[in-house]
Amino acid sequence: MASSFIRKTIVAIVRNGRKSAKRTEKAPELDIEIHGLTHEAHGVGRHEQKVVFVPGALPGETVSTRLVKQQRSFNQGQLIAIQQASPHRVNPTCPHFERCGACQLQHLATSEQIKYKQDNLQQQLQRHLKLEDLPWQTPILSEGFGYRRRARLGVRYRKQQDEIIIGFREEGNSHLTAIDLCPVLEPQLSALIQPLHTAISALANKSVITQIELISSDQGPVVVLRHLKPLDSTDQAVLQDMAQIQACNLYLEGNDTLECLYPESEPVLTYTVSEMDLAFQVKDFIQGNGGVNQAMVNRAKEWLQLQPNETLLDLFAGIGNFSLPLAKQAKTVLAVEGVGPMVERIEYNAQRHDMNNINAMALNLDDEELLFRLPKADAILLDPPRTGAATLMPWLSKQTARILYVACEPSSLVRDAQALLDAGFRIEKITVMDMFPQTKHVESMALFVKD
Ligand SMILES: C[S@@+](CC[C@H](N)C(=O)[O-])C[C@H]1O[C@@H](n2cnc3c(N)ncnc32)[C@H](O)[C@@H]1O
Repeated sequence: MASSFIRKTIVAIVRNGRKSAKRTEKAPELDIEIHGLTHEAHGVGRHEQKVVFVPGALPGETVSTRLVKQQRSFNQGQLIAIQQASPHRVNPTCPHFERCGACQLQHLATSEQIKYKQDNLQQQLQRHLKLEDLPWQTPILSEGFGYRRRARLGVRYRKQQDEIIIGFREEGNSHLTAIDLCPVLEPQLSALIQPLHTAISALANKSVITQIELISSDQGPVVVLRHLKPLDSTDQAVLQDMAQIQACNLYLEGNDTLECLYPESEPVLTYTVSEMDLAFQVKDFIQGNGGVNQAMVNRAKEWLQLQPNETLLDLFAGIGNFSLPLAKQAKTVLAVEGVGPMVERIEYNAQRHDMNNINAMALNLDDEELLFRLPKADAILLDPPRTGAATLMPWLSKQTARILYVACEPSSLVRDAQALLDAGFRIEKITVMDMFPQTKHVESMALFVKD
């Protein structure tokens, strides 16, 4: 099963190796055993008491490597050959995996990936907070492929070749890998890449398109094309024809403009969670994996166990992804969000579902002067961006409510957890969520309680 990938890996290594032959020709080849995987998905081994990171190698493997970078505390190895492959090594599904920087783990069986993600979070919590026996709960899993409902792809026009490239960035540089499909995307989104390539290539002014955003909605796929300069009516007609044939909603986004090009009358876009369709607009945040989002909301309900007389504070609320489902259990929910139009969307979503126990507040949660406006609550859910919620921690530490922290960046969770633990909270439950299988990203949620 793994042999073709190993052959391809070695071909790629040899090809890349030629470029850097001068730098590496003297370094000897070493056989090392790989015992771990970093959060960047690089294999970890040891040579002469020093850690060696080997991209492409997996735990349980013996690999031949050549040291390409030697630092004081670690070495960087280049994979030359796999002597003994891990039983969990698989052939990557995507033909673009070797160059495309969007996925890092397609050579590891999907079912194994989440174990390494949990191990990595456990190690960080152990190293920084000295937490050993944590109450890990069953991870929230996903389909390995065809799960992603939102993605942003780059577009470049190569003038000399008169060629359009659509793709994700390569690892470690800003080049785009040209792709014609992406198996992690929901199939209806992946199927748009080729028609978009054909349509953009047919534009008179093709160099002005720089980015494509693909989103799944209950109303069908949505394409947002970012452009540097307005397109003339002939070019707009080319794109409208493509959108009509592909039955997708098409938007054009300029620096300060966003217009719906197809269909003629702009639809209300929605996605569904807990049997409620939530309206969103194309620039709003929505969770990237619909199945995991539903499981995460279910888990939040199960862990918080809101009672009919209790109040919930939903911080970093987006368009009400948690607020609406959880409001069905609680007396009231106050949803707090920093982006004004998304606050309006929370109110609109509450109205269209006849829920009058949800209030929405626009507040910059990164401004400590404003936090006095937050009321006390029985439970608090926070789902901050990758940078976490450092500014909020002094205020949160003073609360007695149970706190559910949803984290899209483990290091932010670890840092913010320190403040809560120092204030007398303990972690009652914790889990990892495979929101983005095949990639290095790991999301998690932890329930903190004060005794
Ligand atoms: C990871 S998203 C979570 C959204 C929502 N909970 C969901 O599940 O869809 C983070 C949200 O925090 C909002 N946000 C980011 N920085 C903020 C700030 N300083 N104050 C308030 N909201 C902020 C973003 O606009 C975004 O909606």
